[in-house]
Formats: sequence, C-alpha cells, structure tokens
Amino acid sequence: MAEGDAVTESQPAGSLADARNSLKHPGGEGGPSDTGEVGGPATKRQKLDHDKTETDQEHRQSSPKERVDGVAPVKAEYLISNGDDGEAPRNEVDNGAMVASVATGEPAGDSRASPVGSNKKWKNRKKENGQNQNRSYGHFEDKLRLCTSVTYSNEFSPKPCKFGERCKLCHDLRKYLREGRRDDLDTLGGKCPIFEKYGRCVSGWKCRFVKSHSKEVERGDGRKELILLQAPDVPASTEDPDQRPGIVNVATSDNKWDLARRKVPFEKSELYIKWLEKETELTGKLCNRKKKGEEELEDADVEELRAQFVDPPLKPSEKRKIYFGRETPVLAPLTTQGNLPFRRLCVELGAQVTYSEMAMGMPLVQGQKGEWALMKAHESELAPPRYSPGKDAVVKGYDNARDLKFGAQISGNQPWVVMKATEALTRFVPHLRVVDLNCGCPIDLVYKTGAGSGLLDTPSKLEKMVRGMNVVSGEVPITAKLRIGVRDEKQTASRLIERLALGGRDTRDRLGAPGCAAITLHGRSRQQRYTKKANWSYIAECAALIKSYKNMADELTDTARGPDESTQANTADGKVYFIGNGDCYSHVDYLDHVDNSGVDTVMIARGAMVKPWIFEEIEKGQYLDKSASERLGYIEKFVRYGLEAWGTDELGLGFTRRFLLEWLSFTHRYVPLGILEHLPPSLNDRPPRYRGRNDLETLLASDHYKDWIKISEMFLGPTHPGFQFQPKHKSNGYEIDAEG
Ligand SMILES: Cc1cc2nc3c(=O)[nH]c(=O)nc-3n(C[C@H](O)[C@H](O)[C@H](O)COP(=O)(O)O)c2cc1C
Ligand SMILES: [Zn+2]
Ligand SMILES: [Zn+2]
Repeated sequence: MAEGDAVTESQPAGSLADARNSLKHPGGEGGPSDTGEVGGPATKRQKLDHDKTETDQEHRQSSPKERVDGVAPVKAEYLISNGDDGEAPRNEVDNGAMVASVATGEPAGDSRASPVGSNKKWKNRKKENGQNQNRSYGHFEDKLRLCTSVTYSNEFSPKPCKFGERCKLCHDLRKYLREGRRDDLDTLGGKCPIFEKYGRCVSGWKCRFVKSHSKEVERGDGRKELILLQAPDVPASTEDPDQRPGIVNVATSDNKWDLARRKVPFEKSELYIKWLEKETELTGKLCNRKKKGEEELEDADVEELRAQFVDPPLKPSEKRKIYFGRETPVLAPLTTQGNLPFRRLCVELGAQVTYSEMAMGMPLVQGQKGEWALMKAHESELAPPRYSPGKDAVVKGYDNARDLKFGAQISGNQPWVVMKATEALTRFVPHLRVVDLNCGCPIDLVYKTGAGSGLLDTPSKLEKMVRGMNVVSGEVPITAKLRIGVRDEKQTASRLIERLALGGRDTRDRLGAPGCAAITLHGRSRQQRYTKKANWSYIAECAALIKSYKNMADELTDTARGPDESTQANTADGKVYFIGNGDCYSHVDYLDHVDNSGVDTVMIARGAMVKPWIFEEIEKGQYLDKSASERLGYIEKFVRYGLEAWGTDELGLGFTRRFLLEWLSFTHRYVPLGILEHLPPSLNDRPPRYRGRNDLETLLASDHYKDWIKISEMFLGPTHPGFQFQPKHKSNGYEIDAEG
C-alpha cells in the first residue's frame, strides 16, 4: 500500500524543476520525460468553445475565504482568476453539476453539461445506442493479423494451423514483425510487465513489448531463428486468452456454448418456477376476490383456496455466512468503471468487499460472452474481508476464512430470468461471495422493462425473485441493492426492506422470510439521480427498522410456521446486514455513517473513483494528501493491472487505454487536500479554476480529454491510428448508461 502524507504535511507549491521530475515515470524509467513537457501541452491547447455560465463567473470572482456552497474552497494562491489565462488546463469546463452529468449520463440541467446538441439529441442518441453502449474508440488491431498457430511458437516450429490453406491470417512471422504491427513500446522501461512478473507472456509475438522477451539465435546450420523467451519452470503460455495469471472466475467456452444452445438443464429453477406459477395463480384468485369486495365470499371459499397452496418443491441450501461491519468498507458495483483492474487497485488500497459490474440476467442465461466476462475477478478479491473477531454483529457460524470479497451483481425483470442467471452463475463461476440483485438502475431501457429501479414499484415480484434466487443459489447468499424509491415523493424502500427481511404479509407465515442476507440502500430516488445529496436520515430510519425486525423475526420463529432457520441466510440470528450508500467521500463521512446512522457499513462509488485511496483513509482514520506522483503511480498500477487482465497486444492495450480514459474522466475531479482552504472536502463540490502545486498536479486536474490521452500515452504509447475518443462534454450521447 502506498504511503500517503498526512494532510498536515502537505507539500508547498512545487517549482517547475520539481514538476519536471515528478513527470518522469514513477518507476524512474521511460515515461513522459522524453518531452518533459507534459504539463505544457495543456497550456497550448486551443480553447474550448464553451459557454461559461453566470454561476461560473460568480464563483470565480468570489473571495476564496468565503465558503460557497458547491464550490471547493481552494486556497487563493492556487486560484486562477479570469484573465490570468493560458497557464492551466481548463478545469472549469463542465464542472458545474459535473457529478450529475458525468456519473449518470444525464444532461445536468444546464447548458454546461450539454454544450453540443440539445437534450433531445442526447436522448435520441441514447436510444440508438442502447444499453451499455460506451463511446466508440475505433478498432485497435494490428495491421496484419497473426495466426495463433504462429503467435506462441518459435519461428521454426509453428503449430499446425487448424484452417490450413483456407486460413487468411498471417503466418509469416518476420513479415508480421516488419510491417504488420506497430513498433515495440518503450514505456514501462520497454519491459513487458507480464513477462517481468510471471516469467511468461500471454500475448506471444503480438506483445507490444515482445523485444524484451524474444531474441534471434543462430542455429547449427547457420539459420537464424526468432525465439520467444520463457523463464525456466514456468508453464508454457496457452493460446487461451482467458487463461491469464491471477484471473479467476472464468466460465469455460463450453459452458457458454452449452447455454447458448440451451443445453444447460436448469433443474432447480424449472422445478421452482412451475411451483411459482401455480402459487401466483392462486394468489391472483385470492386477491381478485378481495378486490371485488365480494363480501359474500364465504370463509369456507377462502379456506378452500388457501388449502390449494402447497409448499415449494425445493428448499434453499444452507448458506455460507457473510459479514459486513465497520472494518469492511464496500466498493460499489460500477458499470464500466468497476472493471477488474480498478477493483484490484481498490482492494490493494483497502476495499474489503467488491462487486462485478451489473450483468444482465438474460444474456447470462443465453451464454453471451461479454456478460460472462464481467464475472472475472482478480485473485486478490478472493481473500476474506477484514474482520476483528469478537464482534457482536457477526452471525452464528460465520467463518471468516470461508468468506471472500467478490460478489456478482445481476439485473432482470422476471423471477425466471434472475433465477436461471443465478443458477448458472453459481454453477459455472466458482468464487462468488453473493449474488446481488440490482433494484436501482435508473436508465430507461432497464427501468421500462421492469428491471433495476423498476422493481422498486413491484414489491411482490421483487420478493419472488429474491426467494427464488435463494432457492437455486446453493451456498451463495442473495442480497439486494435498492434506491429510496422511483419518485422523490414516494419513498418505498422501507416497505421493500420489510418484505425482504420478513416476507410479504401473505407469505411470511406460510413460507418464512425470503432469505435476503443483506440490503444496500442508495439514499436517492430514481427521479433524483445525483441532483441532491443522498438522504442519510432516511437511510438511518431504515436501519432502525431493520434492527426492529430482529425482534419480529424472533417472535415469528415462535409461531407454528416460523421460517426454517437452516435454509435462511443469516436468519439464525435474525440478522439482515444493512449497508448505506451515497456521497461518502472520506473516512469522516464513513465513520459518521457507521456510528450515527445504524448501518453496518457504507458502500462507496464515486468517492472511490475520484480517490481510490479513500479506503486507505478509512483504514488509517486520517486524510491523506496524495502527491501528484503518487496519484500517477496509481494510474500506472491501473495500467499494469489492465495489461495483465487484457493482454499486452494491441487489443489489450486498447482495452486498457479505453478503461483508463473512462477512469481519468473521474479522477481529474479530485481537488488535492493541500490546496484546500479548509476541510472536509465534499464529493459534490466542484473546483474553481486552479493550478496544482506542480505541473503534474495541474495536469491531473485537467478536464480536457486531450490531457487524459496524454496521460494514457505516458504508459501506453501513442494512441492507435483511428483511435477515437469523444469527451463527455462533447458527446452527450456517451455516458455511463447503467447505474443503480
Ligand atoms: C459510473 C457509475 C456506474 C454505476 N454502475 C452501477 C451498477 O452497475 N450497479 C449498481 O447497482 N449501481 C451502479 N452505480 C451506482 C453506485 O453503485 C452508487 O449506488 C451510487 O453512485 C451512489 O453512490 P456514491 O454517492 O458513492 O456515488 C453506478 C454509479 C456510477 C457513477
Ligand atoms: Zn492460420
Ligand atoms: Zn509480453
């Protein structure tokens, strides 16, 4: 874990020479220092034709001593006033309401967030693009595509090509190296990070650092052969791009193929769904009668209907117990941003619980590769979360050694979809802490089908889903993530929580609790998105409710048809863990919520993207004023982790760059503590224009996408020809479409 400076030791504004030094690659090799000018280009860039709003002007003119709501209190010496121009990146661009616009993909309700095109256009684009569409980056491929029969072999011993004569790919290694690919990179010291770490490289000749693990040798007959190096005692690289060191939870191609061909029997789901259909039909009849107000309905009729209900055909298996507590800050599920390398970085910095990006239930059931790829995790996510024995918040039978950090999050609009997805996940993916049901995703395409936040208005369906998932998930507990409600004025979460903890009024006695092991509540409504602060007093009310259910659960178990303890997640102790979520930006926020809101722990989303060392702050209980070079060090780590996960070939590099740029579109919003007039910093504050304590800090504050590309080039070299990047403030069509 990197050492941070306590805020009291914040550095003085650095000289230009310091800045140049800090611009060097943190590892001391290669990097941007060849230009030494990385901070410079920002100053030269053309101005954005961008309307400044009234409020921008006002903020900039206001005295730095006054605290202006929503504006980060940057010390006067770092402020750039109007007219004092040309020296700093335009970090004013788009910053107004940026949290809203960046995080939600919604137009932020003022012109700043949509300088190009109208909201209407934005909406249309969104429709055209569909769910989970990200900005287009162009194709990143080699000019000549090298056949895998050649990729992993020495020059004179290629493997036989499966396609023989028909193969259109390149089989001439020397030609490929000469004209089929871009030159080797000299970033990262010119050394392949994978080879350095693991003694083998999974990208073979396609590696953009292949020079560092290949050579030409002279054979006895005088012929020269190009060979790939491999450390002794290291198993040979495979051709399977899924087999990467340190990566777990890889579903096999066979599994996905079988799903796609509907060859996977969903025994548990099918059986349960049949029962559920009958159950739903009977419930419908009962309700209809009640609705019609058939007073003449005889007790006997009701009794007769009731008698037709039968017990479910399957009981849930005993669940692995989990734990959430003060020592387990949670990294939120984050579409796109919560990718494997980012989570790995957060775990290294102290995140104790992680989630996959939200996977859609249907494509999982259909075996779609992209969705299953979201389940890949890093082995560091398999370690148990931190836990101090002796805690009273632990459920009976909790075994920390069996616990792990990584859980899956899924969405779906029908019980059968999420049940089958859960059954498939728990069968084909070996390491899951939980399967979490997304009941918060606000985007239209999800909401309108009834999934995501659509479930907030269909409590009975939600209950069926969780109950069903719990039946088919084997030992893996089921959890749910909610928002306060769909609309601001209608707060439904508390009722949903009651249902998830105890069951609906008509099911609780008969069927027991649905078996939800934990509930996360994001303290905002769907309608509200990020426009207002999260409602922590409502979160606290819900926390109190959950506590009170423990007693109710105790009473229930005294009744004749109480829940069967062994089959319910954590019910032996009547404990449903409760996690609060929204606006946590420091250890101070974190501890405040844990101590005063009654939540077991806090989930962190944007705070972790803007400053991933928030987890380290929580662990140390202190603000950390990370220097710009430390921050660049995290970026380098991300890059290395990205290359490990996606490969060092052109494709892997492209992915790494793409996800890095997405992340950098958040990191620039970090305002270094040392330049703040006073604490605490707030996630919702936007910075006025400022310059950093050195050029690198100034660069990292730039919200100009060209600077983000520049940063990516420090580690990944020049962008691929044809590389496209639409900055968010230029393309309102881009944006994270899915969040909950
Ligand atoms: C870019 C982005 C992607 C998100 N993706 C998901 C997601 O896939 N699933 C989910 O449940 N929530 C998602 N969320 C919501 C967050 O998990 C979290 O509930 C929300 O941002 C509030 O927390 P915060 O105030 O700490 O940011 C996303 C949020 C953002 C900003
Ligand atoms: Zn071939
Ligand atoms: Zn390599």
